[in-house]
Amino acid sequence: MSTIDLAVIGGSGLYKFPGLQNAERLAVDTPYGAASGDVVLGDFAGKRLAFLARHGESHTLPPHRVNYRANLWALHSLGARRVIGVNAVGGIRSDMGPRVIVVPDQLIDYTHGRATSYCDVEGAEVKHIDFSEPYTESLRRPLLAAARAAGIAVIDGGCYGATQGPRLETRAEIARMKRDGCDLVGMTGMPEAALARELTLEYACLALVANFAAGCGDEAEISIEEIFAHLAAATAEVPRILAAMLK
Ligand code: HPA
Repeated sequence: MSTIDLAVIGGSGLYKFPGLQNAERLAVDTPYGAASGDVVLGDFAGKRLAFLARHGESHTLPPHRVNYRANLWALHSLGARRVIGVNAVGGIRSDMGPRVIVVPDQLIDYTHGRATSYCDVEGAEVKHIDFSEPYTESLRRPLLAAARAAGIAVIDGGCYGATQGPRLETRAEIARMKRDGCDLVGMTGMPEAALARELTLEYACLALVANFAAGCGDEAEISIEEIFAHLAAATAEVPRILAAMLK
């Protein structure tokens, strides 16, 4: 039996998990190098929750330098089997404006040059995971139900387009992504979701919309200050959703 009921990977704006009691910090060695920082393990809503800040607790790691393999390996090696990735995103679809929360059900990967697989190591067994459904439905469902129970509006489904960053996209890139069927754009959704699947972890994404993506809103430019203000508002709902899920 896992001693961890839920693991949370916090994205931009979520560097510490509010309300985590009796927290202990664990520095985990992994065969893939260092994780983004210590895993913080504690009690939350009467359950054991493990938290890891994806960009580091002082946000020093840009999306393309996050060691996604080490992060998921660290959580798995501690006994986590269910992982929620919290991700800041830009909204492409018109109903996905700032502060909206989405639990996507599909993704398209536009990233490059990242370590995308545990097979990418000399002598490792080659695995071709089924990734038709990139998120675990049996984790998406309780997440959505919990948000509803907590009275927090969330959108069920949407396609997350993962870009390389750290820059934001051009209007033409977003227009192309829209034609491809993307509803959201973020820089950290991949390879995290695929690596979770390789480790047979249950994995779902809680996407927090920080801004309309390039060309999708009224603004000629996207302001980083506004992104962080919207993110702070959406991030404040995350512990309430997860508390309802763990209850
Ligand atoms: N693009 C990519 N990633 C993001 C955005 C965006 O507009 N906003 C927040 N994360």
